[in-house]
Amino acid sequence: MKILKKVNNQGFGNNVLFINASENVTGNTSKLGNKLLKGNKYRQLNLVDYKIYQIGQKFSDDQFNDVLGVIEQSETVILGTPVYWHTMSGYLKTLLERLSQDSDKDALHDKSIGVFVQGSSPSDTIEPTNSIIKTFARVAGMKYIEMRY
Ligand SMILES: Cc1cc2nc3c(=O)[nH]c(=O)nc-3n(C[C@H](O)[C@H](O)[C@H](O)COP(=O)(O)O)c2cc1C
Repeated sequence: MKILKKVNNQGFGNNVLFINASENVTGNTSKLGNKLLKGNKYRQLNLVDYKIYQIGQKFSDDQFNDVLGVIEQSETVILGTPVYWHTMSGYLKTLLERLSQDSDKDALHDKSIGVFVQGSSPSDTIEPTNSIIKTFARVAGMKYIEMRY
């Protein structure tokens, strides 16, 4: 795991949700998220615990709406993803696709969102991922938080 910069005191506001987009509940993504969010009151949601099917797939045990419900109750969403094949994890990519296609237009409006990326060699993935989340935030009417780590 590579930590690029020491954490500054980042105020994430109230009602923070940390979404861990790793296959591991207590792996490096989780550990870095806990470190970055230290001192804040937050909840952690591990995407590995939910069945979130791909856009267009209709299965009765899909749990996207459970995750959406937790997001809707939060003011700030911090996404943490490992690097898988030089990009964000499939867990996160699928979540973004589902949020953009399967949630109400105003569901995310005015919430804040930030992302951090970690991997054995994450440098080619951090900026593209930031850029995707920045665009996602703009389209969804969210405030983008630049993460420092
Ligand atoms: C399928 C897969 C692909 C990966 N691809 C990359 C990669 O392209 N670049 C990289 O830096 N690390 C890559 N890794 C390593 C993980 O990003 C790294 O081990 C990370 O710390 C795992 O996070 P976790 O402990 O939260 O699961 C890959 C790991 C897996 C499982």
